[in-house]
Amino acid sequence: MAAARARKVNPDGYVHARDAREYQRPRDQARMWQGATEQVLDAAGLKLGMSTLDVGSGPGAVMGLMAARVGAEGKVTGIDIDGGLGTEALAELRAQGGAQFNFIQGNVLELDDVPGAPFDLTFCRLLLMHLQDPSLVLEKMHGWTKPGGMVVAQEFDFGAIAIEPLCPPMAEFNRLFEGVFRAHGRNMRAGRQLPAQFEAAGLGAPDRTAAAAHFVPLAEMADMLVGVYDGLFAAGAELGIADTGRATVFRQEMAEAAATGRHYCLPPILISAWKRVS
Ligand SMILES: C[S@@+](CC[C@H](N)C(=O)[O-])C[C@H]1O[C@@H](n2cnc3c(N)ncnc32)[C@H](O)[C@@H]1O
Repeated sequence: MAAARARKVNPDGYVHARDAREYQRPRDQARMWQGATEQVLDAAGLKLGMSTLDVGSGPGAVMGLMAARVGAEGKVTGIDIDGGLGTEALAELRAQGGAQFNFIQGNVLELDDVPGAPFDLTFCRLLLMHLQDPSLVLEKMHGWTKPGGMVVAQEFDFGAIAIEPLCPPMAEFNRLFEGVFRAHGRNMRAGRQLPAQFEAAGLGAPDRTAAAAHFVPLAEMADMLVGVYDGLFAAGAELGIADTGRATVFRQEMAEAAATGRHYCLPPILISAWKRVS
C-alpha cells in the first residue's frame, strides 16, 4: 500500500508525495478545474501570439490551455521545482504542438531572471498555498510581466469544504490534511487572501476576482480524497499523526460511505484574481 511506505517528506518542503500515483492527482484535479481556468485566461485577455509564464506548472495542464489561446506564434513557458514532472510535461506538450513551449526547472523563490521575460501574462495555480511567502512570488511575477500585461493567480480556499451528511472518513481526512498543512505552515485560506497578497506584492488591488465551486456525490470525489490522503501520509507519519491502521480503516470507510450514494461533497473552492500591470 502506498500509505505504508516509510518515506521522508520532500527536502524542498513540498508536503505531497512525488511518485507516479501522485503525479496523476494533479492531472485529475486539472480536469476538474479546467473550465474555471479557461474562463479566467479568456477574461484576462490571453490571445493569439502572446507570451505566457506558468509558475508551478506541474503536469503542464494549464500550459496546454494557454497554448490553445496563444497559438503557433505564441510562447508558453513553465517553471517548476520538480524537474522530472516538468520535463515529462514539456515532452508531451511539444509532441502535441500548438505553441512554442519552454520549461525551466527551479525554485521560483530563488529565480531572478527568467528566459523569455517579460511576458504578456504571468500565471500561477495552486502554488501560493504551498509557500511561506506568497507575495514574494507575486512580486517576481509582476517583475516578469510586460507593462500592460496581466498577473493572474488561482488558489484554493479550504474554508468552505464540507460533506453532508457528515461521515467518519471525512473527519479522518480533515484531521490528517489539516494536521500536515498547519504543521508545515501551508495556507488553508490562500484563495481569499489573494487580494491582500496582490497588495503586499505591490500590484495593488486586483482588477477582478472570481470563485468556482463544485458540489458532487462523494462517489465522484472518493478516489481523489484517498489519493490526497495517501500522498500526505509520509508527511503525516513524520509528524506522528498517521499510521497504517488508521489509513486502512479510512480507505474502507471512505469506500463504504461513497457506495451509499447519500453523501455529497463541497470540495475546496478555487478563487481567482487578476490585475493589469501598469
Ligand atoms: C498542486 S501543484 C499545481 C500544479 C499546476 N499549477 C496545476 O494547477 O495543475 C503545485 C506545483 O507547484 C510546484 N512547486 C511547489 N513549490 C515550488 C517552488 N518553490 N518553485 C517552483 N515550483 C514549485 C510543485 O512541484 C507542483 O508541481
